[in-house]
Amino acid sequence: MNDALSRFPFPFKKGTYDYYANNSIPLQPPYSIEVTPAYQHEIHLKRRLLNKAHSRCYQSLSHTEEAQWEVVELVLHHLTAAYPKEFLLHKEKDNWTFINQLTGEEERFVFGDAASLPFEPLDFVGRHVQEDLILMMQRDAELFLEAGQLCFPGNWSLVFKLGMTFHEIHEPIPGFFERGAADKIRTFLLHMEAGRPWMRNNWSLTAGNFLDTFPETYHEWGIHRHRVTVDNAGSLIHLRVEVQKLFRLPGTQGILFTIHTHMLPLKQLVRQREWLHRFTQVVTQLPDEIADYKGITPYKQPLFAYLHKQMEGEKEEKNEIRQ
Ligand code: HEM
Repeated sequence: MNDALSRFPFPFKKGTYDYYANNSIPLQPPYSIEVTPAYQHEIHLKRRLLNKAHSRCYQSLSHTEEAQWEVVELVLHHLTAAYPKEFLLHKEKDNWTFINQLTGEEERFVFGDAASLPFEPLDFVGRHVQEDLILMMQRDAELFLEAGQLCFPGNWSLVFKLGMTFHEIHEPIPGFFERGAADKIRTFLLHMEAGRPWMRNNWSLTAGNFLDTFPETYHEWGIHRHRVTVDNAGSLIHLRVEVQKLFRLPGTQGILFTIHTHMLPLKQLVRQREWLHRFTQVVTQLPDEIADYKGITPYKQPLFAYLHKQMEGEKEEKNEIRQ
């Protein structure tokens, strides 16, 4: 397996499609971040998007500032613990110096004093990690999305979701409420404890290799959904996996939700024959409403034809070997 394949968080453990359920598992090792070979490229892209359309990529309500500092503390500690050569943190009381060897930056600030940073705390720390960072605040047994830095959304809008509850955020998902998943997952989140983080994978497909699939720029990337053919499916269609992690913040009791998005073109996926089999089984079992929700319907036919061709090719290879 090449490096890109061996790193890829392939999400299907078996070849059957399961309706939405709580697929969270305890996070081990307990780090909110992962640095991959795409670090430089993605940090550059993130910062370009933030500069170009800041309010699309960053939103916050003013009362989240304390929780944002908790996120700074958690993420910087994770960076330095997981990658001690690449990231360093020196503290003299509240005077912190953060050194990012990968970008060559040295950031000095007074912890807890937002005026000492060039951006809001969440917006600052998010510029050093590949993950999108979403902050949910808890009040009266309810969770509200009240701040976030989101550069690589899977077709959802931060501006639109700001202030929404967990249920309101998930309202567009087919079957999420009828089957009881929404209530169970919210109860699970409300019971999360500091120091016991969780993770889950979420998957979708994208036509094109855009990480930044904002609904606001749909005209730029959505068009590729209608350009897929059996011949270009292998390079155009990507399996998009979001590694999502959940951390209870010990002070404010907010929840940090981190999203690390990974993409793999199908032509690479099919090289792993076991992955090809499982992936083909799952996508061919997808209920229509889920395929619609994930935006797959416009290219379902060429996708299936491409996968069929790959499976047939494999059969022919086996027959040739037998002869
Ligand atoms: C608490 C932090 C969370 C936030 C901020 C969040 C946010 C979102 C958003 C914005 C979407 C896209 C909705 C749309 O299409 O408009 C989504 C989709 C979804 N979320 Fe969450 N979510 C969170 C936690 C969870 C957890 C813990 C689970 C399950 C254990 C979950 C399950 C799902 C599922 C199944 C989808 C549909 C994704 C797809 O099929 O592509 N979410 N979430």
